[in-house]
Amino acid sequence: MRTIRTIAELRRALAPAHEAHLRVGLVPTMGALHDGHLSLLGAARAECDLVVMSVFVNPLQFGPSEDLAAYPRDEARDAALAQEAGVDLLFAPAAEEIYPPGFATSVVVRGVSERLEGEQRPGHFEGVATVVAKLLNIVAPEVAYFGQKDAQQAIVIKRLVADLDMPVRIEVCPTVREHDGLAQSSRNAYLSEAERTQALGLPRALTRAASLIAGGERDGEAVRAAALRELSAHDLDADYLAVVDPETLEPVEHVDRPVLVAGAARVGRARLIDNLIASPSTNGAKPS
Ligand code: PAJ
Repeated sequence: MRTIRTIAELRRALAPAHEAHLRVGLVPTMGALHDGHLSLLGAARAECDLVVMSVFVNPLQFGPSEDLAAYPRDEARDAALAQEAGVDLLFAPAAEEIYPPGFATSVVVRGVSERLEGEQRPGHFEGVATVVAKLLNIVAPEVAYFGQKDAQQAIVIKRLVADLDMPVRIEVCPTVREHDGLAQSSRNAYLSEAERTQALGLPRALTRAASLIAGGERDGEAVRAAALRELSAHDLDADYLAVVDPETLEPVEHVDRPVLVAGAARVGRARLIDNLIASPSTNGAKPS
């Protein structure tokens, strides 16, 4: 595995692979790798001839009161894990390489960026879309890998590449969880033991919603209310908890098709997000 710091060097390293029409896969990350990231690398390694992983804690996607400075960084550990996972090129640029003096362009994906996380974190998806557009332009991969854990991010990226005619396939990989259901996240490192237990309220609220839907509940608001009760039972306040269409992210009132149940909650100094797709049973629906 080669570690690369500059865009020019990365382009040079990729040129022979592109000339030979090899399948290049890109896994963008902010480092602090965990099993969720490793699952994306596994998918890329299985499908691609050459795997590029980027590690870049993107300042543009952090709000002024967010955890940019505190975000966990351990490049040596990330490099060792990446090597083990079969990464060929590790792209770890400095912030000035990506945003040199005079940088003035921003990518705004309207609509899907404005809901859920977008409402809570103004400018977040603009930062994500801008850096991902740059990474896709630099690497020109055939496939780029993202996690369902950040369901809205994956939707925003799909919109971005469709709207800007980028010739890349966006592959969304399932959420990897701890044995007890907590979604793996670099921000779990912020949790004390007590907060770690409290954090379980989030996946439990989502599974509560999913089991109600599977059991025939069709009223989106009733599902939401039950999930919120589950959160309160764990002493958690939701930033949001929503039952929405998995593509448009519009609220769903009548659950007669698969829906995305997505939530965010603050636990100590961590802000955690999670989601799952819940499908209504085809029989046993409660009469509405
Ligand atoms: P980061 O939070 O490091 O996540 C990198 C990728 O790993 C994202 O696609 C994310 O959805 C995926 N991922 C995180 N936790 C996961 C889990 N438990 N299971 C499966 N996949 C998981 O997301 C970002 O970085 C940034 O916004 C980025 C796309 C790199 C742009 O800066």
